[in-house]
Amino acid sequence: MALKLSVVGCGYLGATHAACMSSLGFEVIGVDTDPEKIAMLSKGELPFYEPGLDTLLASEIKTGRLTFTTDFSAVADADVHFICVGTPQSKDGLAADLTYVKSAVQGIAPHLKKGSLVVGKSTVPVGTAQGLREQLAQSAPQADLAWNPEFLREGFAVEDTLTPNRLVVGVANDRAEEILKEVYKPIIDLGTPWIRADLPTSELVKVAANSFLATKISFINAMAEVCEAAGGDVTVLAKAIGYDPRIGNRFLQAGIGFGGGCLPKDIRAFMARAEELGAKQALEFLREIDAINLRARQRVIDVVRAELTDDLTSYKIAVLGAAFKPDSDDVRDSPALDIAAQLQAAGASVVVHDPKAIENARKRFPKLGFAANVQECVKDSDLILHLTEWREYRELDPNALAALVKKKIVIDGRNALDRDKWRSAGWKFHALGRSD
Ligand code: UDX
Repeated sequence: MALKLSVVGCGYLGATHAACMSSLGFEVIGVDTDPEKIAMLSKGELPFYEPGLDTLLASEIKTGRLTFTTDFSAVADADVHFICVGTPQSKDGLAADLTYVKSAVQGIAPHLKKGSLVVGKSTVPVGTAQGLREQLAQSAPQADLAWNPEFLREGFAVEDTLTPNRLVVGVANDRAEEILKEVYKPIIDLGTPWIRADLPTSELVKVAANSFLATKISFINAMAEVCEAAGGDVTVLAKAIGYDPRIGNRFLQAGIGFGGGCLPKDIRAFMARAEELGAKQALEFLREIDAINLRARQRVIDVVRAELTDDLTSYKIAVLGAAFKPDSDDVRDSPALDIAAQLQAAGASVVVHDPKAIENARKRFPKLGFAANVQECVKDSDLILHLTEWREYRELDPNALAALVKKKIVIDGRNALDRDKWRSAGWKFHALGRSD
């Protein structure tokens, strides 16, 4: 008999996981407490933007294998339950807020059938899985718990779920591993590396990976600061060091730094947890990684002030990009939107454009100006800020834009625009980490 699956929490991670598991042929029930989200998903409509997931979701709903509900008791039939709820930064500190994870496990506990396996996918502080497993031993001794961290990137969610570069499972016994091997058989058969770990190591793998990625980005942004001071060019530096395979050229794009729903909160929660464990010193460097990252935003604002004046009240600034990265409508901890809001708070008139994220950006900062297209955004502006590297911005014609603006000044916060092309169209061009 084929295994039946449930997915608890149908946000970014859960909706993706549910649709992808259904596409592997499993019967999947998705559960979430948000009735609006469930209504949309049930119709095959995605509540956020993710390339390829919209069509996959719609086609899986049509097969009848994939259903969604707000009723937790609907998981009773399932053999494996994936916990995919959020673990945001808590309101009063750096630590992760585990409310949703705990209530998800409590919510399904009364409905778990004999021999079923609860599998956490959410990013949690090390030790959480062991604690939940002990709780479950009290409330639902017929079930077991494992951890299976998720490494999906927004913009590549389907690809990263169906063809991940590794599968990591944290298990306390062979049976849990066997069940997970059955679920992931089609992916394992592709040759995907399979890593069995204990519960704490599996939790640590996720935060270690994200800390490493954050460190790489902040490293190159620190080099950008030095390049600016010394008259160097960080884009050339990154290319040159990236040829060393031990370093590699990925995640060395200097600019306004990392944002999104994962890297910033994960490194903070990791620091908080290390401190609780008495290993504070080991992760002190992450404080610096965070500081370098936030400083990049300030550096852009400094260039704006240097180009215009300290008093920004009489200037119109056009901001290209609101999402935390291209191919996403996610504005959580978006460096682009933070810079836009800070400039507006400093008195500038700020108009933001983004191909996908305007609606989310408006919800977060309703007082910012928004434009439906680039032309309207830059019209009569004194300065253009390029803050999210969407392809359509790289393809802009600087000659055509020159006719629309008041002043031809552009700051490339992502080192993605063609500097020569903009300069030959008469623009004053600045980029982070490039002193020339
Ligand atoms: C990240 C991890 O990559 C993923 O494995 C994990 O599961 C969740 O967190 P995601 O948040 O989707 O994924 O974004 P990612 O592609 O890692 O980018 C994060 C941020 O870093 C973005 O704001 C991006 O603009 C920035 N970034 C990335 C840089 O500033 N420079 C780079 O070279 C790469």
